[in-house]
Amino acid sequence: MLKTIHVDQLRPGMHVQRLNGPWLKHPFWRSSFVASDRDIDRLRESEVETVDIDASRGEDVADATDTAVATDTAPVVDTVTADAPPRPAVAARPDLASELTRARNICQAGRDAVEAMFREVRMGRMIDPGAMMPLAEEITASVDRHPGALISIARLKTADDYTYLHSVAVSALMVGLARQLGLDDDRCREAAMGGLLHDMGKACMPLEILNKPGRLTEDEFAVMRTHPEEGERLLRDSGLENATVLHMVRHHHEKYDGGGYPAQLPAESTPLLTRMSAVCDVYDAITSNRPYKEGWDPGESLRKMASWRGHFDPAVLKAFIASVGIYPIGTLVRLSSERLAVVLEQRPEALSAPLVRVFFSARSRTQILQRDLDLSAPGCDERIVGIESPAQWGFRELVKLWAS
Ligand SMILES: [Fe+2]
Ligand SMILES: [Fe+2]
Repeated sequence: MLKTIHVDQLRPGMHVQRLNGPWLKHPFWRSSFVASDRDIDRLRESEVETVDIDASRGEDVADATDTAVATDTAPVVDTVTADAPPRPAVAARPDLASELTRARNICQAGRDAVEAMFREVRMGRMIDPGAMMPLAEEITASVDRHPGALISIARLKTADDYTYLHSVAVSALMVGLARQLGLDDDRCREAAMGGLLHDMGKACMPLEILNKPGRLTEDEFAVMRTHPEEGERLLRDSGLENATVLHMVRHHHEKYDGGGYPAQLPAESTPLLTRMSAVCDVYDAITSNRPYKEGWDPGESLRKMASWRGHFDPAVLKAFIASVGIYPIGTLVRLSSERLAVVLEQRPEALSAPLVRVFFSARSRTQILQRDLDLSAPGCDERIVGIESPAQWGFRELVKLWAS
């Protein structure tokens, strides 16, 4: 018989059959389990107020009439979280500089958390995918406050950081895209978690291949192509039951026309969040610096992705471009005055006329006095005429212009 009790009444040995409230807010990813001291501590710190226990499969409450909230299978309280008003997708926007500072801290914490989980896997220890939930929440909150900040900072990686920060970047991109598509809060959390966990299978790859400072051979690439299946197996074995996230992990390298791996799934067999992950994963990979190649400019990358036939779901890619903007932060642009500038900030209401920092004359090929220009300001007669490649201009430290 199921009994609904308050989490304060939970004792080790009780069989928890159900956590009441939206499951993604729970620190647990298994729906039923025998409670340990650690589980109880984590539950008390969570937003879950009541749980259903099955007294026939574990310890019972001492005195059901005094302590049980109800003896019905239906929960008396569907938890405060279920009734909480949905968080607005975009709250009052803080200034970019302060969100960039917060984004740096989230990236550092995220990098450390993902690396720690990789280490656990390599040591053969059990991992707890649910431990990533607070990080997923922070990423979601940052993207909601200022969509461009975390995405821009997470793009900046060193070769050592790539694997770990890539997960944070894909998570942030997934949240931005999920919001753009109007998905609800629970879907956004799945998107954030899927982004963080999508490459966990790389923890099972040989280090000499994963960290190889050059292009992979065909044989090495064949090994690396097993990481989506390895990741899904690892997470499933670790108790992750969320089918959406597991699908995303296993199939984030599938292509729209069925030409991807591991299952050559065509678009009609691929859920939305998986199709989203294919776009976010590639965008972060090509815009990041790798040991063997410089990352492409963000705006340039979007143009190239749009030209690849059959790779991405066109509707998802269109929404993605709308979410990161036509000229993402950090894009090098040429203005109508033949000056070069870097994009500092975009505004959803004026995507083609962002705030830019002018710093170079394309005509005289010399540095000029830096000046910030709001291309959407009334009376501003400058406009963007094209995207330029920082590599072709030899600009190695463009990031200092917008991220400092
Ligand atoms: Fe991957
Ligand atoms: Fe990836």
